[in-house]
Amino acid sequence: MGPMDRTSPRELLVAVRRGVRPLHAQLEEQLRDGVRSGRLAAGDRLPSSRALAAELGVSRGVVVEAYGQLAAEGYLAVVRGAAPRVASGAAVAADRPAEQPPARPRYDLRPGTPDLALFPRAAWAAAQRRALREVADADLGYPPPGGHPRLRAALAAYLGRVRGVQAAPERIVVCGGVAEAVALVGRVLRAGGARRIAVEDPSHPGTRELIAHSGAELVPIAVDQGGIDVGAVVASGADAVLVTPAHQSATGVVLEPARRAALAAWARDTGALVIEDDYDAEYRYDRHPVGALQGVAPDHVVHVHSVSKTLAPALRMGWAAVPARLVAAVVEEKRLSDLGSPVLEQLTLAAFLEHGELDRHLRRTRPAYRRRRDALLAALSGLEVEGVAAGLHVLARLPRGITEAEAVTAAATRGVAVDPLGPHVAGRPRPPSLLLGYTRLPEAALGEAGRRLRAALS
Ligand SMILES: Cc1ncc(COP(=O)(O)O)c(C=O)c1O
Repeated sequence: MGPMDRTSPRELLVAVRRGVRPLHAQLEEQLRDGVRSGRLAAGDRLPSSRALAAELGVSRGVVVEAYGQLAAEGYLAVVRGAAPRVASGAAVAADRPAEQPPARPRYDLRPGTPDLALFPRAAWAAAQRRALREVADADLGYPPPGGHPRLRAALAAYLGRVRGVQAAPERIVVCGGVAEAVALVGRVLRAGGARRIAVEDPSHPGTRELIAHSGAELVPIAVDQGGIDVGAVVASGADAVLVTPAHQSATGVVLEPARRAALAAWARDTGALVIEDDYDAEYRYDRHPVGALQGVAPDHVVHVHSVSKTLAPALRMGWAAVPARLVAAVVEEKRLSDLGSPVLEQLTLAAFLEHGELDRHLRRTRPAYRRRRDALLAALSGLEVEGVAAGLHVLARLPRGITEAEAVTAAATRGVAVDPLGPHVAGRPRPPSLLLGYTRLPEAALGEAGRRLRAALS
């Protein structure tokens, strides 16, 4: 083993039986199959002949002979004094289904994630180390299903400060992203007899799918420049509504103050529940902060939120701030789902929040995203664009006479990936438009992407 090589030899799934065929031939065949099937990959280190012989209960000469034969066939790279390795290029591609990684577009304007290259790796690693150092032995057992008290407290403080959410730590349920929060709340509502849940039209198709999966009937309600049509929500007789008040998830508009008040009043008067998806609310640029709707009606609004838009969706960490009357039911759904979220991850996020790392990350990324948005908007000048004041994407109306499918294809031929509005539409047709995210590319590339898109649409 070279001084830089810290990898351990691969555990090998091999066994030999005496009296059937020569032992070295049996071993050769199994190792050859391992390489050909991809179980052993190029560069994998094998045990020394001495170690493998001891493990199999055979003489060392058997293993030396097998390794020598496989080296001669090109499967292994054997260097004197070093551990044998699987040779590069040894796997026979035809034996494996070809795995084509999806072609990466040159200019990716699809919304949905923050800039993953900006993930604060060093700060997250420090929080992980702290969490591991500080975790009590007792906390390595099954967690409280609603979440570790330390994270619930850190979240209550963060959400109160940054979003104006009013929730004691006990009312916060930790879960796997907005997705799980919506699924849990949907199930609780259904179990309580709710039949119809109103959703914004247009809205995120994935979130609608989660609500529908709970068994509720979806009631699409139109969104205009002021957000969801609250009069139509009231008239719909729905038992609950899912909204994105801070930055409407497709159009980017903000729910106007009178409608916020009307929605809260409807929930108070009828006992209906508002589910507030605050997915990208930390990002706002040109307008005054708009606090969470939950802050004005904490007993009637479930606030769901996650780190997917601030840090990375891969963390799968989110939470729900739940009205007191529903906490026990939501926690019980979470328990029945998976007995609670992973504790070390929860403690890592708690440490990250307690040390102000999320605030620091937001201070760094907010101006960066604002500059990126400006670069994209400058390159798109002439197109009708809305939803620019907040969030991580904008909505661009297509010029007359071009369909969304044509626009997506024309952009793709110029190396630009965009998302059509179509899948977000839940009922009423909308003017053909594209959702354009500006987080994945640096400013200069966004300018070029915007120019290419303009050319594609002209
Ligand atoms: C509006 C909206 N809500 C929820 C989600 C899902 O979020 P999470 O990763 O927290 O489950 C997304 C993901 O893109 C989204 O756009």
